[in-house]
Amino acid sequence: MSQSVALDDEQVTQDRQSGAAQTPVLELHDLYKSYHTPAGDIPALKGINLQLGQGEFVALIGKSGAGKSTLVNVATGIDHPDQGEVFVNGKPFHLLDEDQRARWRGLNMGVVFQFFQLLPSISLIKNVTMPMEFCNRYTQKERTQRALHLLEQVGLADHAHKKPAHISGGQQQRVAIARALANDPSILVADEPTGNLDSRTAAEIMDLFSDLGQLGKTLLIVTHDKSIAHRADRVIEIVDGEINGS
Ligand SMILES: Nc1ncnc2c1ncn2[C@@H]1O[C@H](COP(=O)(O)OP(=O)(O)O)[C@@H](O)[C@H]1O
Ligand SMILES: [Mg+2]
Repeated sequence: MSQSVALDDEQVTQDRQSGAAQTPVLELHDLYKSYHTPAGDIPALKGINLQLGQGEFVALIGKSGAGKSTLVNVATGIDHPDQGEVFVNGKPFHLLDEDQRARWRGLNMGVVFQFFQLLPSISLIKNVTMPMEFCNRYTQKERTQRALHLLEQVGLADHAHKKPAHISGGQQQRVAIARALANDPSILVADEPTGNLDSRTAAEIMDLFSDLGQLGKTLLIVTHDKSIAHRADRVIEIVDGEINGS
């Protein structure tokens, strides 16, 4: 099923072979973020520094409330840090406006969530073409072909015209991964992508991520699952908003 996930990975191969110093795919510099609540400020990130190089598979672990989702939201530009800088393929997110950031994210990052977050009212194939439309990437015909191809790679081409409610949770997560790959981003960021799946389905989804890692995609995956963390090149633990060790 997932042994040949199609990626435009020529560039990755070239970069790896050249051995040249590379811009990190993701760079987080001295990030701070607190939530302001009536009960007071809750510090969620307290000086996070992290760099992910091309093709690295990093697992982010930590207890509930440690700050993992906050880190993901800030790293993807979905949320803003109070202080600090985020660079995605060298582009300083903090210097972009909302529209520019959304577009850069759309082209450079694929984001996968715990609860899939497919649009329920449109077909699977339309869910996958949407990021291409949003970023105005590829021709209409190419978008459809590419979406079908991605669905095929995650084993769901036969279901392309179904709505999300008509497939299982594991299948929905596969579609979410296909959608995340729509614009051939250099990094996939996933926040507990198997947290809502049974263990067998979770293992299948992780096989898919592992295959993507083998093919040179950079991966940042938040997980509670030790078996997932074992597949990573690097495991980073976040404790009370700070990175522990590493
Ligand atoms: N929207 C929010 N409002 C207030 N506090 C929040 C909000 N989101 C997260 N927090 C708090 O920030 C801390 C980090 O949360 P989170 O990043 O969701 O951690 P994790 O994903 O590791 O479970 C926790 O103390 C959590 O309660
Ligand atoms: Mg979380």
